[in-house]
Amino acid sequence: MPLPELPAYKVLLTIFVLWWLLPSNDYQTQSVALSDLVVSRLSHYRACLDVLNTTRWGDFAPLGAAGNDSKGNDNGDHASPRYVNLTGFREEDRFSWQDLGRFRERGLRLSHHAMPAVGGEQLWDVGEGAPVWANASGVLLGQWVRLQESEPRTYDSYNLSQSVPSMHWIGDKTEWGRNVTGGTGRIQVRLTGNETVTAYDQLPKTDAPLSGGSIRNVKAVVTFEDTGGTGLSWEMVLFGAHWPRQGVVIMTTTSEKFDGIFGLPHLTPGPDYFQSSQRLLNQSLEQTIAAKEKSIYSDQSIPWKSNFDNPLHTRSPSPHCEYVMYVQIHPPSRQDLGLGPTVSKGEDVAEMLQAIESELESPLGAPIKHIPKLQMSAVIYSPDCNIFLETKGPPDFPASEADHLLGVKIEVQISSINHWLLAYAVVMFGQVVLLKGQIRETYTPSTLARASFWTISMMLIADGMTFTAAASWVATAHYTFLPTLTLTFASFMSMTIGGSLLAKIYEVQTPAPRAGRDGPQAADGRNSGSASTATSTPLTPTPDGTGTGTAPAAVTTTGPILPGPVTAGRGLGDPAVANLDAAANIMDGASAVPGVATPAAARLAPPSTPTFQSLMGRFLLLGALVMFIGGSSIAWYMTVRSWFLNICAFVYLSMWIPQIHRNIMRNCRRALKWQFVIGQSVLRLLPLAYFWLKPDNFLLTRTEPRAFAMLALWVWVQIFVLATQDAVGPRFGIPKGWMPDAWDYHPVLREDNIEAGGLPIGLGVEDSPARDRRRSSEDKDKVGLGGGGSTRAIDCAICREVLEVPFVKAGEEDMSVTGVFARRAYMVTPCRHIFHTPCLESWMKFRLQCPICREDLPPI
Ligand SMILES: *[C@@H]1O[C@H](CO)[C@@H](O)[C@H](O)[C@H]1NC(C)=O
Ligand SMILES: *[C@@H]1O[C@H](CO)[C@@H](O)[C@H](O)[C@H]1NC(C)=O
Ligand SMILES: *[C@@H]1O[C@H](CO)[C@@H](O)[C@H](O)[C@H]1NC(C)=O
Ligand SMILES: *[C@@H]1O[C@H](CO)[C@@H](O)[C@H](O)[C@H]1NC(C)=O
Ligand SMILES: *[C@@H]1O[C@H](CO)[C@@H](O)[C@H](O)[C@H]1NC(C)=O
Ligand SMILES: *[C@@H]1O[C@H](CO)[C@@H](O)[C@H](O)[C@H]1NC(C)=O
Ligand SMILES: *[C@@H]1O[C@H](CO)[C@@H](O)[C@H](O)[C@H]1NC(C)=O
Ligand SMILES: *[C@@H]1O[C@H](CO)[C@@H](O)[C@H](O)[C@H]1NC(C)=O
Ligand SMILES: [Zn+2]
Ligand SMILES: [Zn+2]
Repeated sequence: MPLPELPAYKVLLTIFVLWWLLPSNDYQTQSVALSDLVVSRLSHYRACLDVLNTTRWGDFAPLGAAGNDSKGNDNGDHASPRYVNLTGFREEDRFSWQDLGRFRERGLRLSHHAMPAVGGEQLWDVGEGAPVWANASGVLLGQWVRLQESEPRTYDSYNLSQSVPSMHWIGDKTEWGRNVTGGTGRIQVRLTGNETVTAYDQLPKTDAPLSGGSIRNVKAVVTFEDTGGTGLSWEMVLFGAHWPRQGVVIMTTTSEKFDGIFGLPHLTPGPDYFQSSQRLLNQSLEQTIAAKEKSIYSDQSIPWKSNFDNPLHTRSPSPHCEYVMYVQIHPPSRQDLGLGPTVSKGEDVAEMLQAIESELESPLGAPIKHIPKLQMSAVIYSPDCNIFLETKGPPDFPASEADHLLGVKIEVQISSINHWLLAYAVVMFGQVVLLKGQIRETYTPSTLARASFWTISMMLIADGMTFTAAASWVATAHYTFLPTLTLTFASFMSMTIGGSLLAKIYEVQTPAPRAGRDGPQAADGRNSGSASTATSTPLTPTPDGTGTGTAPAAVTTTGPILPGPVTAGRGLGDPAVANLDAAANIMDGASAVPGVATPAAARLAPPSTPTFQSLMGRFLLLGALVMFIGGSSIAWYMTVRSWFLNICAFVYLSMWIPQIHRNIMRNCRRALKWQFVIGQSVLRLLPLAYFWLKPDNFLLTRTEPRAFAMLALWVWVQIFVLATQDAVGPRFGIPKGWMPDAWDYHPVLREDNIEAGGLPIGLGVEDSPARDRRRSSEDKDKVGLGGGGSTRAIDCAICREVLEVPFVKAGEEDMSVTGVFARRAYMVTPCRHIFHTPCLESWMKFRLQCPICREDLPPI
């Protein structure tokens, strides 16, 4: 390919692809410089691991041992605070640990609420509470409320260059990330537990609360929306431990200024939790560090990273608020399990839960009536920004208002995603069926010329985006592989079939794919030909190439008298018409210069018209751009993001606007089948309805019923306009000057035109055959369909049936709607022949020529 002609979109595409690929190259060049840093960070982790290994329960007591924070802690009656040598847990870091006692207290309170005391004894304290799900992996949604902090903190409270001198902090003297300032908001939790559970020996009962004898490590992605405050939504990753028997999860963020995961055991509710988590973490952290040490050069990503900004080690981090989270998993309610209110035996419930879980993990077809929801409550506490959040729900709020975090287990989530992906694939197949139906109807150049290129393009872009997303997801989709593959296939079908329809439309409309170029300039010479001369006169090219065929203007004078403008439609320069003519000529065996129109067409086509392939390239780029911006919109302000998504949806659902425009410009009543229009509208609204209306959709997006109602209304309005165009004509109620002239096939026929000779051949006074004249004089006084006029009868040349033509009386204006409908029954050609509307319309699907005199007809 010659370089100078490289279109802009290809350059952009190249840049885009390069940009996509470059970061991986960046890693390679950075790696040598980074490895020093990685080595020092890893040795820091080693030191932290040593501290974790050597500290004991009670070594971290920032409030002094006098506090009530640690039940059963008897190894220190002295009031002096104690710290451990971990970043963030040291005295000089000056973290706000005042609320640590409150954190434990509130957590304990939630646990006691989730597992109420039986017979006055808190079974939770002795590790014998009601049975809960053993595997807590799942997706949950709820609301958080902020509690009053004891001592507000700002970024000025810290000197990060002092507490972490090895780092060059960026933005530590402005507001930190994840700083929640609002009072309430939404919270999403995606919890993933390790598959293997580690068993350990519990401490004796005197050291209550006990932790239940088994532990596993967990990871959670928590997103909280700060609607009332910063207007941002923050996403963070926490790591920690899960005690399945107790249903307790404790997690923390880890960063350069907070060795959270190494200090986690010190934040647990009691010594039993401390010991079990210390042993688990000692082991699993050691494994992680060892793995990182082995691959210093190839893998420089930060372990236990809490945000998604930059996965690599860096010397200049930016500070975020650190969080510690205590989660209590609730036991499923008895009604949810299908049990009666009377307590029979606790073991029943445990066995049922186990049966449900094992069936979920490895389905064997065991009968499960109903899978209870996953419910959790949580306390979230930031020891540096001093933010104290709790999930909203009982006992502080009535359960009817908010019920902590509600969600489903991961297996249920995956199967629901699979169902919805399949449903989407079915929607896509529906689109394929509609497209095929439309193609069956739209295959002649004349029908193809009516459809709007941009309407079909918008559908194609959306399908292409679905296909791209599904195809790139399918490679990594373990659990959703088959449905994703089905969706990939369905969207591919929809894309290719839509693309083939679009290619045909493009081919027909090439010189100017946009509607609106149907100006009158191209059609001046040809519509004025008379019936008698046009049949016998071959087209002759004019030297200037604009008017391609000039028939001897025998009846030219009748032109202006005919109602409506005679200049109409597209000239012969339009390849659609040209091809049609050529085809018709060949079919008829006529020798009338089939190649005439071709040079004119070539001359008329603007040299800059992009090829179909390059247009598709632009669409690809546009789709990729929209997807990229959409993907990066996660970090935007929530209102901005919501506006962006709504505007994208609005633009997408405005797909009928180009068709409406084209109908007006070409004076065409209907271009697409009604099944197609309504079916496509509904099918394309359905996926949006899922995300805009369903609160527990699998992306957990915020629902916007009002925005969706507006979108649906907008689509409905467009369909209504299309229906109006079909019923009363596309130009009904639009000022004349606004659009180019087009031939009006349904003109008002006036009695005062009879004398002037401007009426369709066969209806005028001077040329009506005797039979028709007789009949028309008989019917003269009859009140016609036109309301106030008379009707005349004539034979339709196509079907040979009688055609009743309503007339408007001399001197009267006919603006009534019944008149509009009555005029729809007949069609008058520029050559003054008149036919039944259905007859001529079906004829014109194949040939844009008058059936009687072979004069070219402007397309409808
Ligand atoms: C942990 O501490 C024990 C003694 O309490 C010591 O033997 C062991 O080497 C330490 N392990 C690590 C990884 O430091
Ligand atoms: C300590 O516990 C007592 C009751 O056991 C309670 O009244 C008091 O508020 C607690 N103090 C703190 C600092 O938590
Ligand atoms: C804390 O640990 C660091 C290494 O991470 C060490 O250099 C320092 O001496 C320790 N401080 C105390 C008081 O043990
Ligand atoms: C958090 O936001 C509050 C209110 O805007 C501000 O006063 C405080 O300094 C911020 N904290 C941090 C650590 O940036
Ligand atoms: C922060 O600590 C550094 C190093 O100890 C010191 O030079 C600087 O003055 C401190 N800044 C403030 C604001 O205290
Ligand atoms: C899961 O736990 C096992 C045993 O504790 C450990 O070997 C494995 O690395 C853990 N897996 C993850 C992903 O943490
Ligand atoms: C669920 O937990 C059980 C034991 O509690 C374990 O055997 C199983 O592998 C876990 N499954 C998953 C998917 O975590
Ligand atoms: C931590 O792990 C090391 C071996 O990696 C072991 O020697 C040590 O006893 C463990 N410490 C604790 C407290 O479990
Ligand atoms: Zn007919
Ligand atoms: Zn004709």
